[in-house]
Amino acid sequence: MKVAVRYYTRGGNTKKLALAIGQGAGVEALETSYPLEEDVDILFLGSSVYAYGVDDEIKRFIKDINVKVGKVVNFSTAALVKSTYKQVGKLLKEKGIPQATEEFYCKGSFGPLHKGKPDAGDLAAAKAFAEKITKG
Ligand SMILES: Cc1cc2nc3c(=O)[nH]c(=O)nc-3n(C[C@H](O)[C@H](O)[C@H](O)COP(=O)(O)O)c2cc1C
Repeated sequence: MKVAVRYYTRGGNTKKLALAIGQGAGVEALETSYPLEEDVDILFLGSSVYAYGVDDEIKRFIKDINVKVGKVVNFSTAALVKSTYKQVGKLLKEKGIPQATEEFYCKGSFGPLHKGKPDAGDLAAAKAFAEKITKG
């Protein structure tokens, strides 16, 4: 099974999750500035919310995908909203790429809110999540 991990981060919270997901999936986690270069069965895609929306970079990355992606597994951090699942799902739908029902989400620190998040427990859970998705 071919697996890739891509993420966009401004402050580093989503990067922490991405590295844990990459460890669990056994592949290198790369920023969305690295386009997918071959077909993949599973793409773990990490994003966050900034002023209620995902960053334009996530929109651009999805729009520019030009390989076959079996399904996208969403992972995200945010301070207030639950996850980016729905917003990313809408973008994927426009592109005709299936979104897995499973996702990984945890709180991300934002100013005085959620200090230290994602924490060690979140990262261990993210790694285990990726292992389960990729190795059953
Ligand atoms: C400019 C800005 C705007 C934000 N707006 C929201 C928001 O509308 N809703 C929310 O839940 N979190 C919001 N957050 C919190 C981020 O989603 C949270 O800190 C996230 O973990 C950031 O991920 P990153 O460190 O990977 O960039 C905002 C953060 C920043 C910096």
